[in-house]
Amino acid sequence: MALSTAEVETDESVHSTFASRYVRTTLPRFKMAEHSIPKEAAYQIINDELMLDGNPRLNLASFVTTWMEPECDKLIMSSINKNYVDMDEYPVTTELQNRCVNMIARLFNAPLGDSEAAMGVGTVGSSEAIMLAGLAFKRKWQNKRRAAGLPTDSPNIVTGANVQVCWEKFARYFEVELKEVKLREGYYVMDPAKAVEMVDENTICVAAILGSTLNGEFEDVKTLNDLLAEKNKETGWDTPIHVDAASGGFIAPFLYPELEWDFRLPLVKSINVSGHKYGLVYAGIGWVIWRNKEDLPDELIFHINYLGADQPTFTLNFSKGSSQVIAQYYQLIRLGLEGYRHVMENCMENMRVLKEGLEKTGRIEIVSKDVGVPLVAFSLKDNSSHDEFEIADLLRRYGWIVPAYTMPADAQHVTVLRVVIREDFSRTLAERLVNDIQKVLHDLDMLPSKMKAKMEMAGEDADRTLFGSKKTEMETQREVTTLWKKFVMERKNKSSGVC
Ligand SMILES: Cc1ncc(COP(=O)(O)O)c(C=O)c1O
Repeated sequence: MALSTAEVETDESVHSTFASRYVRTTLPRFKMAEHSIPKEAAYQIINDELMLDGNPRLNLASFVTTWMEPECDKLIMSSINKNYVDMDEYPVTTELQNRCVNMIARLFNAPLGDSEAAMGVGTVGSSEAIMLAGLAFKRKWQNKRRAAGLPTDSPNIVTGANVQVCWEKFARYFEVELKEVKLREGYYVMDPAKAVEMVDENTICVAAILGSTLNGEFEDVKTLNDLLAEKNKETGWDTPIHVDAASGGFIAPFLYPELEWDFRLPLVKSINVSGHKYGLVYAGIGWVIWRNKEDLPDELIFHINYLGADQPTFTLNFSKGSSQVIAQYYQLIRLGLEGYRHVMENCMENMRVLKEGLEKTGRIEIVSKDVGVPLVAFSLKDNSSHDEFEIADLLRRYGWIVPAYTMPADAQHVTVLRVVIREDFSRTLAERLVNDIQKVLHDLDMLPSKMKAKMEMAGEDADRTLFGSKKTEMETQREVTTLWKKFVMERKNKSSGVC
């Protein structure tokens, strides 16, 4: 049957989305609309609003992977509809998870026989992994204290003040006191001697970080282990160590294989790592590995029996996607030790290019270390006329997302900018970033208000130098506005409209 012209015109599915009424109606923000809209319109409208998000590849604030091979993207998309928790239905996915746990445990030198299964679990990220590890320590400590008839009402964890927020969350959610070793200017990680001093009979564990979030530095786990072993011997306690290797867990084994930070140290009982950081998988995967079965109290494990085999589960959430587990397995077998080593070496080399470029400006002090997570944390040598927050702000105009933040107690007067070097941040980008930071510094120097302040500080008559003669306040304001407009126009021309 042929449709009349009028019928065709009112059939909205034949219109281009931009010729439809959907692009001119307000979208629901608080309450669902009564009627459906065509899928093309829904896609276009959401996609277009998302254009205003930052570009993940230029988001240098994040440790989290923003690029994977198209082959892995395909695997991710083909398993996007699999709920990981259905282990009976998806036994292969479960098996891939177990293989990942085994491989990562051995990467961390867990004391295992050749075909012995490791103790660990895939999580949503390091935060969930840390909650589980913390719970295991708390429960073990409680069991031991109860058996000895001792009180269990005030457990604590000793960490550096540089811990990531997930430790504070763990402490608050699971009612454990966080005893933080304070930092000081120039020393931004936990001092192992001070940490051990803070340990008491209620300490459920000392948490060391392999790759501080603030400046990428590795904490000295070996010294911590040795000092704590001495204290344990003197006191009769058996305070253990957890290593938060969220970033460093996939770096140290490849770049610093001799560094002892993992299960080679007897007091290290559990380690977490983010698969979605240097494990090179998109957001949504972390791992926690225990040294031995005895380090994870049995009452925290739920046992699922599938295909005749015992599948222990220990997670906070029930349902979760399978894609990230599969993607982690892809990376482990695709790259192997050699591939991971090359990726980490490239990241380090590009970190050095960026660091040296920034040092050459003569205005920047590097706060990160050469050994650690490949990142560059830096401050301005002189931040009296403009500060690190202004730099972060202006870098946005060039497309870069670089965070500025103040250090925690007792170094809160220090502000840093931090660039995380990920796999997909190549040398060309590093060189461009140095260039753009130089431009930003120049732009800030040339801001009329800054020039005026600088001249006044030097005792010069800024109005006369900048504007020719003595002006009234109103005239001066007008001149500043004109100069500002000129500055903006110049930047616009120079930077093809990014200003
Ligand atoms: C040292 C450290 N621990 C834990 C976390 C939390 O990791 P996730 O984002 O995987 O939950 C981070 C995140 O940056 C981190 O740097």
